[in-house]
Amino acid sequence: MNDETLMQAEGLTRHYRVSQGWFKPRATVRALDGVSFSLRAGQTLAVVGESGCGKSTLARQLVLLEPPSAGRLLIAGRDAAGASAAELRQLRQQVQMVFQNPFASLNPRKTIAATLAEPLIINTRLGAAERRQRLLAMMEKVGLRPEHLQRYPHMFSGGQRQRIAIARAMMLAPRIVVADEPTSALDVSIQAQILNLFMDLQQDSGCAYVFISHNLGVVRHIADELLVMYLGRVVESGSKAALFERPLHPYTQALISATPVLHAAQRRPRIRIHGEAPSPLAPPSGCAFHPRCPRAVARCASEAPALREVDGRQVACHLV
Ligand SMILES: Nc1ncnc2c1ncn2[C@@H]1O[C@H](COP(=O)(O)OP(=O)(O)O)[C@@H](O)[C@H]1O
Ligand SMILES: [Mg+2]
Repeated sequence: MNDETLMQAEGLTRHYRVSQGWFKPRATVRALDGVSFSLRAGQTLAVVGESGCGKSTLARQLVLLEPPSAGRLLIAGRDAAGASAAELRQLRQQVQMVFQNPFASLNPRKTIAATLAEPLIINTRLGAAERRQRLLAMMEKVGLRPEHLQRYPHMFSGGQRQRIAIARAMMLAPRIVVADEPTSALDVSIQAQILNLFMDLQQDSGCAYVFISHNLGVVRHIADELLVMYLGRVVESGSKAALFERPLHPYTQALISATPVLHAAQRRPRIRIHGEAPSPLAPPSGCAFHPRCPRAVARCASEAPALREVDGRQVACHLV
């Protein structure tokens, strides 16, 4: 691990035991099944994949909301599992989260001022005047006005609420922000503004992002690195340039062919995948993608492909 690496996941795994109903044995959901990556300072890692592939489960691991079933998470070189309570508090300040739904993630009974001041009151010894300075500076950074501070969440639009949630995440100047589909609940016209805000804040603060989305089009501009997930596992990961220009995994190819492009010359034939992603309760044999893969061969149904280095990225496919 070089000293620039802020966060490193090694085989992060999270299984849930779930009830299947009366008189039936409990089953195991393999929500996250051995995900590894490293995130460098100031970079944006985009995590993409369909609904249910384990993105939010991964997010909860990264912000230390839930312990992993297996695997390790290192933050700034420190193993989160071995950290003392005091160390954990420190680590949690460095990794903040922005949730998908800005309507649910803000406390409706608190003014914006109270919401934004809270992390400062809990974690710093700043006096009231200094806190107010910080609040005003942050409001300006996220494009809100000072008079908004005395209002309540219901008085804002979805886009404004997401600006407030982003401001709250940024109050303690975290080194890493995990954003779980932060634009999916917003109108399309607002999404680009919020993406731009994320990019401006990164330029300003140098923080790193783990930016989660089910939509490759959304992460196209913001990402440096991409991690493509399918049913709890990484199927392809590498630089955005490599994956967009020459996706190797059939699933990445299908996701990329489904994102709109402006110039006809760059357009690729649309690769359609049919049906829904299978349940992680009963994953298919072999490669989990094989029942939907347009190129699957017999081996894909019997043998799970390992992630390996091909052409400057990691990919898990027998056909590559
Ligand atoms: N607390 C939980 N208990 C049981 N199953 C869960 C739990 N959280 C997530 N899952 C299951 O894990 C899988 C991945 O979920 P999630 O991480 O929310 O996916 P995504 O965010 O990519 O849509 C889903 O099948 C989901 O039903
Ligand atoms: Mg999710």
